[in-house]
Amino acid sequence: TKMQHGLLQKPMTPFVRMIHSSGARLNKVAVVGAAGGIGQPLSLLLKLNPRVTALALYDVAPITPGVAADLSHLPTNSKVTGHTGDGALADALKDCDVVVIPAGVPRKPGMTRDDLFNINASIVASTIAQCAISCPNAHYLIISNPVNSTVPIASEVLKAKKTYDARKLYGVTSLDLCRAETFIGEFMNKDQRQVKVPVVGGHAGKTILPLLSHTGGAFKQEDKDALTHRIMFGGDEVVQAKQGGGSATLSMAYAGARFTESVLAAIQDGKVVEEYAFVESKLGYAPFFSSKVSLDKGGVKEVHDVGALDDFEKKLFEEMKPELNAQVEKGIAFGKKYA
Ligand code: NAI
Repeated sequence: TKMQHGLLQKPMTPFVRMIHSSGARLNKVAVVGAAGGIGQPLSLLLKLNPRVTALALYDVAPITPGVAADLSHLPTNSKVTGHTGDGALADALKDCDVVVIPAGVPRKPGMTRDDLFNINASIVASTIAQCAISCPNAHYLIISNPVNSTVPIASEVLKAKKTYDARKLYGVTSLDLCRAETFIGEFMNKDQRQVKVPVVGGHAGKTILPLLSHTGGAFKQEDKDALTHRIMFGGDEVVQAKQGGGSATLSMAYAGARFTESVLAAIQDGKVVEEYAFVESKLGYAPFFSSKVSLDKGGVKEVHDVGALDDFEKKLFEEMKPELNAQVEKGIAFGKKYA
């Protein structure tokens, strides 16, 4: 995955090579919520990705065709279309291979991700219901919070529509991985691009569990406490600094584009790509759980267990389980009712 991440960090050189090597394969990607704080920079990064040949931008905001017009002036190998209004979601989703969903409201200071449930649950459910009709074979990447609940909601809606494929439904937790790599890299005084930190569990506060014991670093207990806490609550730093103006958008756009690139690489190249994502899980910790996954053409090929935990991590792991399971159950219950 290093090479793919390098693509986003240094976009200019590999483009030509990638266009030639990707041949004539078509990849249509839709962004639902494309006019928002995440949606716009995410769409920009996807426009720069040579694997994307068609990019459909959908949002309820009237600015959406303008966002598409703006991006359409960039000389890359994808065609961008903008969609808003009645019937427009179906057009945007038609024949999609990948749908990335950052639609919904973000947090304000003092809010948890769960506080967004009442608004975002229906936005995700209605979006996914249309996906089941318009692009039943696509891969769905859910960014909208609370991810711990919106992914189970999506699974129930898809089950009711008889199009559920657990291998193709992902909650995007890549920003937690990005934060862990950055904070641990800074702390260890290492090139952040070389740092690997597993982050498992879910995507909200204490359910975000970074496994520092897997980094090869030696941490004093107080540093472990502080770094773990910072990774768990890294999102709050941004929410507070934006003073009511929303949550992470630019870093999330990067993280979302990085994860989308991994999914596209797995679909296109037939190679196995390793990532972390919040997926249906048979590991026994919660019905949906974030851990390392191997992706191939069909999506999630294998869900990997978390490996050995030290005593500190074991304690946090046990503490996290009830909260994560409650948020998953809340999503399942909503999804069943909706569908
Ligand atoms: P934003 O408010 O700037 O943008 C959201 C966009 O969604 C708006 O343009 C809005 O018009 C659109 N929208 C609302 N209802 C829609 C619908 N039914 N169909 C299509 N579009 C619709 O919010 P921002 O900052 O972009 O955040 C979006 C979501 O991403 C939030 O739920 C936020 O909590 C979540 N998020 C997730 C992260 C993660 O790590 N998974 C990280 C950061 C944010």
